[in-house]
Amino acid sequence: MSFPQHRPRRLRTTAAMRKLVREYAVAPSDLILPVFIREDLSEPKPITSMPGVVQHSTSSLVAAAREALALGLGGIMLFGIPAERDATGSAGLDPFGVLNKAIRDVRAVVGDELVVMSDLCLDEFTDHGHCGVLDASGQVDNDATLEIYAKMAVAQAAAGAHVVAPSGMMDGQVAVIREALDAAGYADVSVLAYAAKYASAFYGPFREAVDSQLDGDRRTYQMDPGNRREALHEVELDLAEGADIVMVKPAMSYLDILADVAAMSPVPVAAYQISGEYAMIEAAAANGWINRRAAIEESVLSIKRAGATMILTYWAAELAGWLREN
Ligand code: PBG
Repeated sequence: MSFPQHRPRRLRTTAAMRKLVREYAVAPSDLILPVFIREDLSEPKPITSMPGVVQHSTSSLVAAAREALALGLGGIMLFGIPAERDATGSAGLDPFGVLNKAIRDVRAVVGDELVVMSDLCLDEFTDHGHCGVLDASGQVDNDATLEIYAKMAVAQAAAGAHVVAPSGMMDGQVAVIREALDAAGYADVSVLAYAAKYASAFYGPFREAVDSQLDGDRRTYQMDPGNRREALHEVELDLAEGADIVMVKPAMSYLDILADVAAMSPVPVAAYQISGEYAMIEAAAANGWINRRAAIEESVLSIKRAGATMILTYWAAELAGWLREN
């Protein structure tokens, strides 16, 4: 017999060797923790379909932000759940509304040490659960929604957001937000654009997390999972409109899209490991079908390897804790 000329196994012989040749690693500063804050809650409330994740009260939110800072996370992304909803999502514009208040509360404890990001969308604030306002025929009205997004952006910046993150997939949203921020004196506030956001079945648990009122789907504004090229178009538009960071969402079923965007984007690329991705791994682990920690670490590493500069994940704090142990 002849001996193999190439033996890739040589570089796998010891843990030290594997560590030496490893190309990608996740750092705590790559991670962004998404958090939910619900108005009028005195105790945090568990989210059944996302074991380990809660709707925060003000005090538990502030504690989570302190922990995120202590763990060296890159940032925190805030989602607000108001007590009252209406057709136009007016609670999102209220400077004392749940989200804007939460931004202020978090900034008060983290200062500039942790990047504070806020979800800029109407779905948590509208009584119909859509990401925009509806026209007379019940369709989401793109341009009427833009006017509200512009005001929301200014309210969030005034509350202290370092980064606003429009997630509604309205055409032209980045441009109106950038213009409104600049006009109001917030030229230093960044826009993280949900550029390639797909209409995904994996958002399921998020709907419970925000008590979503949605009846129907978001297919007229979020992208069709069958499209790849279109993601690059969406990213190019957002870049031209002034996006500082572009996002691909969800992550795991869209790693091809993430790799495409990472290859062409001149700005940092974020990926969002969403609620359904979290729930699947937690459920399988709870059944003893997979090793929980190993599956979490591998899933987040795969997102980094595909090209993400930063990753939003509900495991951000736990994962950062493990990274510090290593
Ligand atoms: C919309 C928004 C959604 C998520 C983040 N922002 C839900 C949706 O588009 O239906 C989903 C996040 C997740 O599933 O973890 N504001």
